[in-house]
Amino acid sequence: MRPSKTDLEAPTGRPAGRQRALIQVLQDIQDRFHWLPPEALGHVAEALGVPLAQVYGVATFYRSFSLSPRGRHICTVCLGTACHVRGGGAVLESFERRLGIAAGRTSSDGAYTLEKVNCLGACALAPLAVVDGRYHGQMTEAKVEAVLAAVKKNGAA
Ligand code: FES
Repeated sequence: MRPSKTDLEAPTGRPAGRQRALIQVLQDIQDRFHWLPPEALGHVAEALGVPLAQVYGVATFYRSFSLSPRGRHICTVCLGTACHVRGGGAVLESFERRLGIAAGRTSSDGAYTLEKVNCLGACALAPLAVVDGRYHGQMTEAKVEAVLAAVKKNGAA
């Protein structure tokens, strides 16, 4: 008999030990490969003794996990209202042009993934982009070039 999701939750509603272990293992895989390959998820389910459906449930619940390959560098451009009215669209186009990929895509060399989101909660910095977790406010096309140049110089893109 396999445990159900309820079996893995502590009475407080917080994840029990096995659930926490599952999240941590998935985070480790995500950090190493920049995504969660299907074969890895099967191994995790077997090793932790949890249903594969539960592994996928966790993998799809958290936004930090990806079920498709992502680049070594993640570029996120905000197109929420504040960013949109202050030129977020032009910033996104600049990233697309310089990286040679459309939003939602990963470059063929696996270096970059370009994403667009609706509000990162820092509207005062609009238009805003986040590159490898670092916030860049009041973005302009010139700043896009500078940010990507710094990534290439420092990040071995
Ligand atoms: S709309 Fe871009 S951070 Fe809020």
